[in-house]
Amino acid sequence: MRQHKLALCADHFAEWIVEQTGRFIRKYHMFTHDERVLVAVSGGKDSLSLWDVLDRLGYRVDGLYIGLGIDEGIAYSDNSLAKIEAFLEARPHLSLTVVDVKSTYGATIPEAAALTHRGRKPCAVCGLIKRYIMNRVALEGGYDAIATGHNLDDEVAVLFGNVLNWQTGYLARQGPVLPESELGLVRKVKPFCRLYEREIAAYALIRGIDYIYDECPFSEGATTLYYKTILNKLEEDRPGTKLRFYLEFLRAREEGAFSGLTEEVVLHKCTSCGQPTGAKGECAFCRLWARVRERTGQAAG
Ligand code: AMP
Ligand code: FES
Ligand code: ZN
Repeated sequence: MRQHKLALCADHFAEWIVEQTGRFIRKYHMFTHDERVLVAVSGGKDSLSLWDVLDRLGYRVDGLYIGLGIDEGIAYSDNSLAKIEAFLEARPHLSLTVVDVKSTYGATIPEAAALTHRGRKPCAVCGLIKRYIMNRVALEGGYDAIATGHNLDDEVAVLFGNVLNWQTGYLARQGPVLPESELGLVRKVKPFCRLYEREIAAYALIRGIDYIYDECPFSEGATTLYYKTILNKLEEDRPGTKLRFYLEFLRAREEGAFSGLTEEVVLHKCTSCGQPTGAKGECAFCRLWARVRERTGQAAG
């Protein structure tokens, strides 16, 4: 690991990943051993490795998989679930909640997006639906935190985009922890935010975790992927660039460089589902499904 000036054998490397993750969880006050954590698993290397690491650290952690119904070119969603099931076969003490979007709400993500955002990629609709389901399952299941597998490369690509566009509100909020809020937004944490993507891939390999290699078919051409390519070039020429960029950002944020830049979002309870929303009346999730039903002539579920 040129960025850390460190070389480890396979066994010690895996231990190092576990220790480092434990250290970040404590440093950023993500959650304690008494709290219950819901890890959002996609079947990719990051979230499956995260579940494995949190389990090895002795945290109380259950999984959540959201079946998006993405079947464009490759059976992306079915293959993802198959990887999670294989992971669980070797770890029968872990439990998983599966929410299938189509059987629960009436349409797959691509179908819902085609009905409501014609001609546009489904990624925005997908993000909205995933965030909503994660929060709802965590809230109803009494979880203290939702953990996602976002890694350093992901965080740095988002940070880079936020800086390029001077999204100061987003900069003020970006970080390893998004605290809970009173009306029912569950705390969100990213225990892998300081680990490079390739470090996590190596961990998955060493631990024998099989995962879905394909990216979502809709991610092709995404701006964050373009940023990642540029950032990889920087990292190659100057090892440690990504980590420094991220850590110095966190330091500046800690020192108040972005304080006062967040707009206070006043939360309300959605009049239809009762979940927290910034909108008055119905939340964006309920409005989306109302539009889907309108266009397909389905009765409200
Ligand atoms: P992505 O937005 O695809 O890069 O995924 C970021 C994180 O969101 C992953 O590491 C997972 O923790 C979570 N995630 C993505 N897709 C799903 C899914 N279908 N079900 C549950 N969690 C997911
Ligand atoms: Fe949601 Fe690709 S559109 S994962
Ligand atoms: Zn709602």
